[in-house]
Amino acid sequence: MVVTTASDGTTPRDGWSSRSAFVLAAVGAAVGLGNLVRFPAEAANNGGGAFVLFYVACIVLIGLPVLLSETLIGRHGQASAVESMKRLAAESNASKWWGGIAGLGVAAAFMILAFYCVIGGWVLYYIGLFAADIVQSGISGGALTGMSAEDIKAIFPDLLNNGFTMSVLDVAFVVITVMFVARGVSGGIEKASVWLMPAFFMLLLGITIYGAFTGAFSEAVGYLFTFDASKLTGPVMLAAVGQAFFSLSLGVAGMMTYGSYVGRDVNLAKTSATIAFADTSVALIAGLCIFPIVLAAGLSSDGGLGLMFDTLPHAFQSMPFGTLIGLAFFVMVGFAALTSSISLMEVPTAWAIDKFGLRRAPTAISIAVAAAVLGILSAYSFNALSGFHPLGFIPLFEGEGIFSALDSVTAKLFMPIGALLVSIFVGWIAERRLIDNENGLSGGLHRFWLFLVRWLCPLALTGILIVGIFPSLLPA
Ligand code: TRP
Repeated sequence: MVVTTASDGTTPRDGWSSRSAFVLAAVGAAVGLGNLVRFPAEAANNGGGAFVLFYVACIVLIGLPVLLSETLIGRHGQASAVESMKRLAAESNASKWWGGIAGLGVAAAFMILAFYCVIGGWVLYYIGLFAADIVQSGISGGALTGMSAEDIKAIFPDLLNNGFTMSVLDVAFVVITVMFVARGVSGGIEKASVWLMPAFFMLLLGITIYGAFTGAFSEAVGYLFTFDASKLTGPVMLAAVGQAFFSLSLGVAGMMTYGSYVGRDVNLAKTSATIAFADTSVALIAGLCIFPIVLAAGLSSDGGLGLMFDTLPHAFQSMPFGTLIGLAFFVMVGFAALTSSISLMEVPTAWAIDKFGLRRAPTAISIAVAAAVLGILSAYSFNALSGFHPLGFIPLFEGEGIFSALDSVTAKLFMPIGALLVSIFVGWIAERRLIDNENGLSGGLHRFWLFLVRWLCPLALTGILIVGIFPSLLPA
């Protein structure tokens, strides 16, 4: 176990064993279903190139400054997110209530964890589907041989109707996640990232190259990168910023928590830039991986979860080695989802360890049980509980079942509020000296970052929050 000393100088604390371990773990947290499912689907729904360009701008100008702010708060505090915020607030003579921002984040991370593992369970289902197909019909043909288009079309809706199967798979995904989290930062979380992330990158590149040769690559490039300014409407911009925050795992104390395990010698500005660069590259490559396959099969590239769980299986059916590629694809998605769910589980786990002074393993297991319960309820919200709308009394969340309410409330409220308060805290409240010593920036870059954190991020995030709550304010 690698031990760093907490800022009170006494308590030994587990931490990343090297800078590259931190980078891999943070990239693992950032790269997930958001890059592979949401980004391509959102790009498809929102007019391709215009969305993509605006997304990249959001990552650089709003996401990256907040990412640096979050890791900086964690690294300074060397404690769970809430405790780190409190420490920095105390040293800046600010109210300890600032710790509450991180508290909101901890709650949000838990909610995301619950529905995220349900999707993780679906990924396990598709891995099983393609693995069974290989056993049955070998690897040389297309996927899902003998199934008619209607049969394939029915796979995903049938799964969504089957609350029991989804629950079992959800629990399986939670169990895999907690096996790493329970073993600690250097002994578990880091190990997962160090093995799974390189494997993920190889699979992603392999499948993308395969798609480039067998699929409609140039069509896909045109689709993703042709910039049409007329498509850059209010809702498209809102979707792009929301996606940028989700993808970088911001606003819910995740990067604060991971940042708290980083040694004092690491340059956070450089590291944050590396993380953002890797995350964005994966999203773009995921687009270049998925669209050639979908477009070559002549399928519509309309978005939503159906892109991955309905459209792609159709596409794999008619491709050479489709079964093998399908299996590789869902294994790759599973790896990315796992390193993200690990980071989501670590946030409430670290908080509870700090707060109640408990040991890690029982704490992680308790969080896992709670997440599984909420996950099972979410799984049933597609079928037996579909009439139950937990936040139905709020117009914004009208008609949403448990699964989609968890997604919406975190994306529309918790994440923008969390990120907004982080930027205000770092930009205006925290003692300058503490921030300036930590961020690894100097000169013009430092001034530019400060400008972004003080002005652009708070303004943009306030705007996002308002139009997220009152969508009718957006010009269409
Ligand atoms: N960023 C991950 C993705 O793109 C999801 C995720 C992991 C996340 N940890 C998070 C989102 C913390 C918000 C906060 O799939």
